[in-house]
Amino acid sequence: MSYFQVQAPFPANRPRRLRATPAIRNMVRETSLSPTDFIWPVFVMDGTDNAQAVSSMPGIYRHTVDRLSGLAQQALELGIPSMCIFPFIDPSLKTQECEESWNADNLCNRAIRAIKAKVPEIAVMTDVALDPYNINGHDGILRDGRVINDESVEALVRMGAAQANAGADILGPSDMMDGRIGALRGMLESSGHENVSILSYSAKYASAFYGPFRDAVGASGVLVSNKETYQIDPSNGEEAMRMIARDLSEGADMVMVKPGMAYIDICHRVKTEFKAPTFAYQVSGEYAMLQAAAKNGWLDGPKVMLESLLAFKRAGCDGVVTYFAPEAAKILNS
Ligand code: PBG
Repeated sequence: MSYFQVQAPFPANRPRRLRATPAIRNMVRETSLSPTDFIWPVFVMDGTDNAQAVSSMPGIYRHTVDRLSGLAQQALELGIPSMCIFPFIDPSLKTQECEESWNADNLCNRAIRAIKAKVPEIAVMTDVALDPYNINGHDGILRDGRVINDESVEALVRMGAAQANAGADILGPSDMMDGRIGALRGMLESSGHENVSILSYSAKYASAFYGPFRDAVGASGVLVSNKETYQIDPSNGEEAMRMIARDLSEGADMVMVKPGMAYIDICHRVKTEFKAPTFAYQVSGEYAMLQAAAKNGWLDGPKVMLESLLAFKRAGCDGVVTYFAPEAAKILNS
């Protein structure tokens, strides 16, 4: 018998009783949202004391490295525990072999150091994927029209090592190459970085919702073809479960589902089946579509923002990577 059947018949059972006042609704609320649920993605660029608007993401800017500690201080004050860094790489540094990705002094690594030097309380997360550094926009090395796996993993390990050396707290492999979690975990263990954690983008789909992000990091114009030979087919749910299981068994500490809103069923399944720390990425296209509707007056922006974020908690996620982090935190704190 399902527990849904253990209910008095109407009128003994009137579910509206528990919705009658704010006090009673507060008493029986099942999930809640807090600034501690957020990971805040920030775009960084070269230069000094400057910010550049990302046109397809209203309200989002690329910031110069010297401004990052100010943002980190803001995150700390708002109660946001973590920031994730995404670099806008000078096009002249993009190459076929992506050497800039493991340069100890590249933009991303300078950004990590800038935050950790001034606001060490913030957990700094990185993106481990070659696309910002790749002349053809792919997450792995492209040869003869193919993204090759094993050599890409070697490059990703060098990249992750440079990030860990710069002080990153969490590596976020978003590349979807096979074997990268075990390789990164082995590198961290053998290089004195055993306390650096891995939040694997395990269930990362080949999605059209990443469009505005690729503008933000300057990868849209350059991407040759698409990412369907490594990112998951949006039709597949079982495959996502296999990827989560694999990444956990290779040493991922936390797992991610990406995008979020259109894949909320996957979030729920992942938490229910694995019970591991589970995160969703509310990606750039999800942010852009809510902002666009709000700017047109078609939706109440703050309300849909909070409702969309709460949905991830209800689905079972422990947290969300979201561009709304500071705005949502301000409302939740007020
Ligand atoms: C790249 C990466 C992407 C995002 C995060 N890391 C884009 C992609 O896979 O093409 C997307 C984030 C977003 O859309 O907000 N490895």
